[in-house]
Amino acid sequence: MYYPEDIVEEVRSKNDIVDIISGYVRLTKKGSTYFGLCPFHNEKTGSFSVSPSKQMFYCFGCGAGGNVFTFLMKHENATFSEAIQTLADRAGVKLPEVELSDEQKKQMSEKAVLLEINKEAAKYYYYQLRGQSGKIGYEYFENRKLSAETMQRFGLGFSLPFADDLVQYLRKKGYRDDMIIKAGLASHDEKRGTHDKFWNRVMFPIQDMNHRVIGFGGRVMGEGEPKYLNSPETPIFDKSRNLYGLNFARSSKNDYLILCEGYMDVITMHQAGFTEAVASLGTSFTSGQASIVKRFCESVILSYDSDEAGTKAALRAIEILKNVGLSAKILNLKPYKDPDEFIKNLGKEELLKRIENAQNSFFFEIEVLERKYDLKDPGEKTNFHREIAKKICNISDELERKNYTDAVCDRYNISVDGMNKMVISYAGMGVMRPIEPPRSGIKKNNPEEDKKKAQRLLITWLCEEPGIYDSISEFIGSEDFTDELYRKVAEKMFADIKDENFEPARIVSMFDDEDEQKEIALLFNTKLTGPNGLPVSFDSVTEKEKALHDILVKVKTSALEYYSAKTDDVVSIVRMVEARKKLEHLKNSRIKID
Ligand code: CTP
Ligand code: MN
Repeated sequence: MYYPEDIVEEVRSKNDIVDIISGYVRLTKKGSTYFGLCPFHNEKTGSFSVSPSKQMFYCFGCGAGGNVFTFLMKHENATFSEAIQTLADRAGVKLPEVELSDEQKKQMSEKAVLLEINKEAAKYYYYQLRGQSGKIGYEYFENRKLSAETMQRFGLGFSLPFADDLVQYLRKKGYRDDMIIKAGLASHDEKRGTHDKFWNRVMFPIQDMNHRVIGFGGRVMGEGEPKYLNSPETPIFDKSRNLYGLNFARSSKNDYLILCEGYMDVITMHQAGFTEAVASLGTSFTSGQASIVKRFCESVILSYDSDEAGTKAALRAIEILKNVGLSAKILNLKPYKDPDEFIKNLGKEELLKRIENAQNSFFFEIEVLERKYDLKDPGEKTNFHREIAKKICNISDELERKNYTDAVCDRYNISVDGMNKMVISYAGMGVMRPIEPPRSGIKKNNPEEDKKKAQRLLITWLCEEPGIYDSISEFIGSEDFTDELYRKVAEKMFADIKDENFEPARIVSMFDDEDEQKEIALLFNTKLTGPNGLPVSFDSVTEKEKALHDILVKVKTSALEYYSAKTDDVVSIVRMVEARKKLEHLKNSRIKID
């Protein structure tokens, strides 16, 4: 870790985790905890929790968890130092200067060179499109009704039908073959040497949000496979975190974006004045893209083809958008297949009307569902209604749920009462159960795991009720935790409790490793569960004291076994003797919780 602990802690404590996560996930408060849909796995019920008092997040579904740094690192795919920089900026904390390692310097300058190469290539293609040899490309765009102004705005270009003219051009500019290849613009083999990747195609430069060219899409002239060829992923081109057209769309004043399928869709939309249009980059829409989009708008209008592939892609995109808390609407372009054709035939005024009347994703999903059932068959009809109930169940806002119920019942002639009953029965089955999720690779009834479990339980309990530490401190110490990670956590935790300064989220910052952070989040966010998997509640204080006593005996016994097995070093022998003494003492004592 590069930064001193107190700086890390200052930055952490000045960035409230609920504030930060609300920027990415729609959270609803339930009791003292916030819940939402987990951004780290696909789910329909919210098992993702954020605790303001612990300043930690934890997903009961996939086990992702940690503090505000962990969240940012995981969500933005950032390093610790990127995460702390973002959060320090946000909170106005000045970070000390950090010396970059040679490796980091190299990576930074490499990225700069790759950006330059892409920029030079874009200039080259742009120039070719406007020259004699690029005429076929220019005419192609003209046929697709693009104006000279639009072509210029999007920097459209053309790659000549020669094997290595771009490579030669870039070499003359002083770039090395290995960097041209790394930029994704050329490949190398023995027969042809270093040769251009794009060849006889109209070229769409792909820009990041700051208008820097990071890659290209190239469309074949006429028929041919593949129709579109895209730059490969490179150190500067991450397809899952960029969107075509976002460099312009981000400044649109409307509070929605229009998500299209391809480059041409975006360009025709913009040309017609719909500057909110963006598209993913030859791959399907990702959650990384969704969280970027979230920074610029409140809802997304999907403009996908109405064929089966398009419908499937739309359903997936809806899910991904919902997960980051964005609502989705569906643009109906019928009878045309894409915005391009639509505008050519019906014009932009008509398109504007369709945009204003875009259909809510809920009804779109229900309609897609409807196609699967024969509603004349009573059994199938019931199943269809059940599926509707499940969908309604996933709407977390009560008023919204009621409105959708009314609307859908009205549309399909269903009794609202009957639907509500169905919804309630599903809600009862799908309630969030904060029980420990199964941990991968660990079998049940494993004695080692049983020992760890007792240690884990004790930490969890102390986290919930730090007050009980006073009653048990005479029997237990951090050295009783035989699991190394738990021992480190216990050590810090006990010290902090003694100082009356215990904050779970700070403890997370002590660990660099994501898996360790996850494990700690699990410790601090597990609810105590009994053998039946239900949260433990005690009938009396005595019962609780007895349960605590049992856990302590288990932890002490495993510590004794652990040190007894290691009698070849003096420290262990001393620990063994002490553990034996304290265990005897413990067995003869009663724990008293005031
Ligand atoms: N695409 C791709 N590779 C392919 C086909 C498509 O990367 N072989 C991506 C491109 O980003 C393209 C988008 O998917 O823009 C949509 O594909 P398609 O509907 O086939 O392209 P159109 O936009 O209809 O292309 P055009 O209008 O130029 O025929
Ligand atoms: Mn098209």
